[in-house]
Amino acid sequence: MHIGIIGAGYVGLVTGACFAEFGIFVTCVDKDEQKIKSLKKGKIPFYEPGLDTFVQKNVAQGRLKFTTKIAKAVESSLVIFIAVGTPGRGDGSADLKYVEGVAQEIASHIDGYRVIVTKSTVPVGTGEKIREIISQNLREQTDFDIVSNPEFLREGSAIEDFMRPNRIVIGAKSAQAVAIMQDLYKPLYLIETPFVITNIETAELIKYAANSFLATKISFINEISNLCERIGADVHMVAKGMGLDQRIGPKFLHPGPGFGGSCLPKDTSALLKIAEAHDVHLGIIDAAVRANENQRAYMVQKIRDEMGSLKNKTLAVLGLAFKPNTDDIRDAPALTIIQGLQKEGAKIRTYDPVAMKEAARQIPKMKCCKDAYDAVKGADAVVLITEWNQFRNLDLARIITLLREPFFFDLRNVYDPQKMKAKGFRYFSVGRV
Ligand code: UDX
Ligand code: UDX
Repeated sequence: MHIGIIGAGYVGLVTGACFAEFGIFVTCVDKDEQKIKSLKKGKIPFYEPGLDTFVQKNVAQGRLKFTTKIAKAVESSLVIFIAVGTPGRGDGSADLKYVEGVAQEIASHIDGYRVIVTKSTVPVGTGEKIREIISQNLREQTDFDIVSNPEFLREGSAIEDFMRPNRIVIGAKSAQAVAIMQDLYKPLYLIETPFVITNIETAELIKYAANSFLATKISFINEISNLCERIGADVHMVAKGMGLDQRIGPKFLHPGPGFGGSCLPKDTSALLKIAEAHDVHLGIIDAAVRANENQRAYMVQKIRDEMGSLKNKTLAVLGLAFKPNTDDIRDAPALTIIQGLQKEGAKIRTYDPVAMKEAARQIPKMKCCKDAYDAVKGADAVVLITEWNQFRNLDLARIITLLREPFFFDLRNVYDPQKMKAKGFRYFSVGRV
């Protein structure tokens, strides 16, 4: 089978490379010529463990091709995935101009039956909208089907998530389209992956509901962690005690500086907008979003309260990416927190293994350092924001001698409070005393 993927960004590229690994012939399209040029040479424009090997291998074996021309992919493919960005507009709703533009162009090249699939997270009703756009722009009259097949890829473990997913969601009207999609995912049938087959609107909503629920779980434990600090409880034990209840589950109950990334913040806001447009109030998700904003602000307040004024204090921020194993800083808590600290008059020295360059473009007034120890040198405090493995085993004896003051704010609860205090740090974490 041949498939086309429009948009060789994070989602498109992972999807394309993984389908090629399944033995399918894949043409990935992107309008960014520079990106396509480097992809042809096997260079990946972002950091995702294992993706380079997959891309290089499948390009070499002739199953993965890159082009800037949508026509090339549409002509040779039975299934065409739309995986272009759906950025948030100022008001939180998703901007569909790329999806709609791509749909129009696909239509103008269709010369026979095709299945057009949305992989991008799109507001409920977009599938139908694409159907209209395609019908109106067809060059010649032909049958086609629309499918919603949302992705559930976590950055940093996207390949594993694609190859061993918890489930595959397929939303479609036609039995033929469902059969083609099932055929495409045949290797996952063999490992007994559950398939959820439903209509397009339901599939579209599943993605938003899942991400909003995950966001809510994080905001929930973050609020509980704030209470823990006041009453002397340990949030990890609370999470453990809760999570062992199989109805709750242990995942996504790790407290921290708030959720970030390209999906959770954008999808929660977009779902609120979708509900608003239908006169439905989603109070829980609204609260989860506000709790997340409060959590970021609370991190700044906590540092200021413990250190007194931050004017002319130097803070060593370790970690900028919204989570480890990615260079993605979209909606990263570190950025908001750094800006908050700067507003209080603090100077920032920072280090992140891969996300520093892009972050420095957005926050020019911070000193990028060559490693964690360089960042800490002469600083008044360490602020650990992203739990990269290399920050989990810092040489603490060295850190304390490099610091001007022994403040250590561990916003991911990487270290043990008692041990840190015994080493002489003025140690603060989230939801533990
Ligand atoms: C995007 C969405 O933001 C997300 O909601 C969805 O679930 C999957 O798609 P991501 O893959 O991370 O996520 O986006 P991004 O890395 O920005 O990639 C989009 C790519 O599409 C870019 O490479 C861009 O150049 C390309 N593109 C965009 C096109 O080829 N044509 C267009 O018209 C617009
Ligand atoms: C998420 C979803 O997990 C994935 O299924 C979806 O398709 C895309 O969005 P991703 O954005 O890659 O994936 O990151 P994820 O691992 O979900 O983390 C999101 C944010 O939540 C990060 O900032 C992370 O640090 C934070 N987080 C996560 C917590 O603060 N506590 C937790 O317990 C889990």
